[in-house]
Amino acid sequence: MTILTHHHGAVAKLVHYLSLLCRDPVELDDRLCARVQIKTQGDSCAYLYPTECWHDAVERLASTLGGELHSILSEVTLSQIESAVLSRIDKLPTDRPFALFFNSILSLARFCYVACRLLKPTTVAETGVCYGAASAFLLQALEVNGKGHLYSIDLPPLHRNPHQWVGVLVPPSLRSRWVVKLGTSKRHLPALLREVGPVDMFFHDSLHTYSNMSLEFRLVEQYLSSLSLVVADDIDGNAAFRDWTARTRPNIVSCIQESDKQSLFGFAVNLTDGAREVSAGGVSLQSGQTSTRPVIQL
Ligand SMILES: C[S@@+](CC[C@H](N)C(=O)[O-])C[C@H]1O[C@@H](n2cnc3c(N)ncnc32)[C@H](O)[C@@H]1O
Repeated sequence: MTILTHHHGAVAKLVHYLSLLCRDPVELDDRLCARVQIKTQGDSCAYLYPTECWHDAVERLASTLGGELHSILSEVTLSQIESAVLSRIDKLPTDRPFALFFNSILSLARFCYVACRLLKPTTVAETGVCYGAASAFLLQALEVNGKGHLYSIDLPPLHRNPHQWVGVLVPPSLRSRWVVKLGTSKRHLPALLREVGPVDMFFHDSLHTYSNMSLEFRLVEQYLSSLSLVVADDIDGNAAFRDWTARTRPNIVSCIQESDKQSLFGFAVNLTDGAREVSAGGVSLQSGQTSTRPVIQL
């Protein structure tokens, strides 16, 4: 029975690939390259980051950006979006294309809300939407701010109706500030940035390979506004976030252990002349080290 199901899955995948070959050979090439990248980079490049606890990191962010953290954390709109997303998750059908661990619930999604409320961005760019847990929190924060748009890029799953799954957790009432482009970040991010830049906040949560993360960081860095925030999920699979922050030297860098998932997310704040004052501190990522297996620092 298991063999039959496995066989059926492999045939379905092959059919999707063949139809993609006719419809969109560039996307097929992107998907195959991603598979090769995942196979070749694998876990061998896992990176040990020094971590900070969620509350300390968020306090530091708030003191840098000068916001009222405690009132933001107790906003009713934060608990409302949390309940809305959780209840939508409960209603996802069992034959959904992605497992639930793909959702950035809840520590990262909450971070996205708080960061977006503190920063009050005009332009937020995101790669990797999936069901849209983080997008929902970002859009809720933009709505409370009363300004800003979220521009997202997502490569939907190879599935019968792939588009129907992208962002299903985002309540319809929050979608007016949202623009979604379907396809890989490699293909869409350059044009998107040219169209909407400068970017105040960038959130990476797409393909977590060294090459793809480095490419996204490199592309976005040219468009970051004078006060900007870059957030990246699953940074510990490779050293892309360390290498990028070592080269660009943001004013604040932090890596946080996710409470609901065995991985880390990181953020970097960039302030250039005229931006709000920099608070002291910052974690040096140089003290991390590469590991031959995925190691989580608790
Ligand atoms: C980890 S999930 C995103 C989770 C999401 N941020 C959330 O809050 O639940 C990764 C998503 O990125 C998409 N993806 C994978 N490779 C991609 C690529 N090269 N460009 C854009 N999206 C990609 C996946 O199909 C999936 O929807």
